[in-house]
Amino acid sequence: MSRLAGKVAIVTGGAGGIGAATAAELAREGAAVAVVDIDEVKAEEVADRIRHSGARAIGLGGDLAEEDVARSVVHATVAEFGRIDVLHNNAALTASSFLARDTTVSEMPLDVWQRSMEANLGSQLLMCKHAVPEMRSTGGGSIVNMSSGAALSGDRTRLAYGVSKAGVHALTMYVATSEGKAGIRANTIVPGLILTDAVRAHLSPDILDGLGRATLTPYVGQPQDVAELVLFLASEQSRYITGQMISIDGGMSAHVSMNTGD
Ligand SMILES: NC(=O)c1ccc[n+]([C@@H]2O[C@H](COP(=O)([O-])OP(=O)(O)OC[C@H]3O[C@@H](n4cnc5c(N)ncnc54)[C@H](O)[C@@H]3O)[C@@H](O)[C@H]2O)c1
Repeated sequence: MSRLAGKVAIVTGGAGGIGAATAAELAREGAAVAVVDIDEVKAEEVADRIRHSGARAIGLGGDLAEEDVARSVVHATVAEFGRIDVLHNNAALTASSFLARDTTVSEMPLDVWQRSMEANLGSQLLMCKHAVPEMRSTGGGSIVNMSSGAALSGDRTRLAYGVSKAGVHALTMYVATSEGKAGIRANTIVPGLILTDAVRAHLSPDILDGLGRATLTPYVGQPQDVAELVLFLASEQSRYITGQMISIDGGMSAHVSMNTGD
């Protein structure tokens, strides 16, 4: 239960869903955790729950698309805990009101495109930019970036989300390449459907049923499934894995059914 004893982790987008589950899991394994989110109140609530469990945590707020915010998150984490060993870039725009405007190539509002790039991809660049020097100064670290199955193939909607997530794959490989000899690894997690409370609330039973049938496992993924993959990639047990895209989707991306439509 102490795979991250003495380590310090930043989890972005940690106010709920997958990020909150991951922050709790890293803390359970011994890490001190900075929980960061544009929703500062919820980030602080998650940090508070972790502190009540006996681990160390701080909650930090701000829009990570802004360089000053990313820089100050890194500085605040180092000021509080002394170092950074793990960076989990999990923040992304998932609000259904925003995604409803993320449509197709001929209809794409430019503000939706630009905001998707800066919030989903730019935030990951900025956090890497400011965390990497800290990791270098202590001999290395592990960066775990968050993508989506939406980056692996086309869809009839959510073009900007898919393209911003595809950029995460390249960002990860470039960081892994330039920083590998400094002891810094970088990997991308590519989730399929993960049943957070928000996903449950917003997808219709029909769509959830269809996605469930397209999943090869008898169950659909939970936030804890992703948290455990982040933990593995953050820990020394994955020390020879870097620059990779790792799907966690119950096999959804591993098959196409021509017969059943699933
Ligand atoms: N749940 C799924 O089925 C699923 C599938 C594929 C990929 N993902 C990815 O997993 C990650 C977590 O998703 P989730 O389902 O837990 O959703 P979520 O909405 O609970 O988590 C995303 C968090 O990021 C925060 N955020 C957004 N923009 C921000 C910004 N500019 N600065 C700081 N914080 C910001 C949000 O406030 C939110 O708390 C996301 O990167 C998402 O794209 C989720």
